[in-house]
Amino acid sequence: MSEKLWGGRFSKSTDEMINEFQASIAFDKRMYREDIAGSMAHARMLAKCGILSAADCEAIVKGLEDILRQIEAGTFSFDVGLEDIHMNIEKRLTDAIGEAGGRLHTARSRNDQVALDTHMYVRRETVEVERLILELQQALVEAAEKYSDAIMPGYTHLQRAQPILFSHHLMAYFSMLARDFARFRGVYARADIMPLGAGALAGTTFPIDREMVADALHFDAIYGNSLDAVSDRDYIMEFLAAASILMVHLSRLSEETILWCSREFSFVELDDAHCTGSSMMPQKKNPDVSELVRGKTGRVIGHLMAMLTAVKGLPLAYNKDLQEDKEGIFDAIDTVKFSLAVYAQLIRGMKVRREVMRRAVEEDFSNATDLADYLVKKGMPFRQAHAVSGRAVHLCIKRGIWLKDLSLQDFQELSPLFEEDIREAISPETCVKNRDSLGGTSYHQTELQIAAAKKLMDEERTVQEKAAEKQV
Ligand code: ARG
Repeated sequence: MSEKLWGGRFSKSTDEMINEFQASIAFDKRMYREDIAGSMAHARMLAKCGILSAADCEAIVKGLEDILRQIEAGTFSFDVGLEDIHMNIEKRLTDAIGEAGGRLHTARSRNDQVALDTHMYVRRETVEVERLILELQQALVEAAEKYSDAIMPGYTHLQRAQPILFSHHLMAYFSMLARDFARFRGVYARADIMPLGAGALAGTTFPIDREMVADALHFDAIYGNSLDAVSDRDYIMEFLAAASILMVHLSRLSEETILWCSREFSFVELDDAHCTGSSMMPQKKNPDVSELVRGKTGRVIGHLMAMLTAVKGLPLAYNKDLQEDKEGIFDAIDTVKFSLAVYAQLIRGMKVRREVMRRAVEEDFSNATDLADYLVKKGMPFRQAHAVSGRAVHLCIKRGIWLKDLSLQDFQELSPLFEEDIREAISPETCVKNRDSLGGTSYHQTELQIAAAKKLMDEERTVQEKAAEKQV
């Protein structure tokens, strides 16, 4: 049985089942690097402030380096009786170096320690998420450029609505990801605040130097209220909120990918390496990746709900309920990173079937608005033009043909304003080219979007790389 670091006031050892129930070591051990870096910074600060001797500080730092090596080599055995990563490391340190190890926790509590570790962990992983968002943005821009001539029907109500460029459609997802990136920047700013020095809740009686620790660990700011420092989980809720919105975006993209590679649409074909087969039906090629991303969205949203609910009734400051922050955010981090990474690959491997997309535009009425716009440009009020175009569609449906198949005489019977140039005016290329309003689907506007996207990615990359360098 492990000897508890807080065993002094107890006359009985912890019940085995309770030990297991309250322990977080199974999942918080992934913060070992942050815990060790935090302890080293704390020890150095204590020494500089005359609270710890230089010799003790050196022994602590050496001991912690040793533990880091053991953990990374996989030779460190974690003890569930020691509850969490913080006490596992501190106990092992004290076993190894003796009394000096027992001085490390001076002017510190596990409450500000766990807050410190989690801030650092979330901060580092946020930068990783940003890198992967950029990766997917890059893949989308590459595909938008590669398929810049592909025209597809744009949809409302999942009914063919108006012809658009496939690139324009992809760039809509780019825009969503740009907002996601900005949201994670906000998460980063809130994770980049240093809680250590709050003690258990009220600060400490020792003359500590919080600025020194914040500098050593590259924090941008320091919590100004000790109660807030140990009980704030906003940055976790914000991460989960940003992650949920991001997953909702990926889920919508997944839904479209799944539709597009169905036989019914056949707009795209996914790479064989990114699909799976069926154990029974030999012909199947299933878009499992997209389905899984769509499916995993639910659990990330679930983690957000769990966190909001866990915190909503808590009195200040620390309560053990707050330990529930970890499994959710860890799982959300893994899920979001994995989903972004696989999606970048999926988009890169995807083949677009331009001819099928084009047929879906040609063999339909998604140019009916353009027919009406044609008449408007010749002076007819839009409402009236809408009615004429509707009658043209009705006529075609009756005859089983498309608008382009109507003769000039047919057109002129509908309205004398129609001339020879009507067929050209409702061709897919013209429909796309003419939607040249700012942010529209025209070739020109889509090129502008892509150029702006590249510029934005340069800015994002600069910010992301700078933040990555700063991680401890
Ligand atoms: N494992 C705990 C957590 O994750 C560490 C803080 C424990 N503090 C306490 N007073 N029990 O929240």
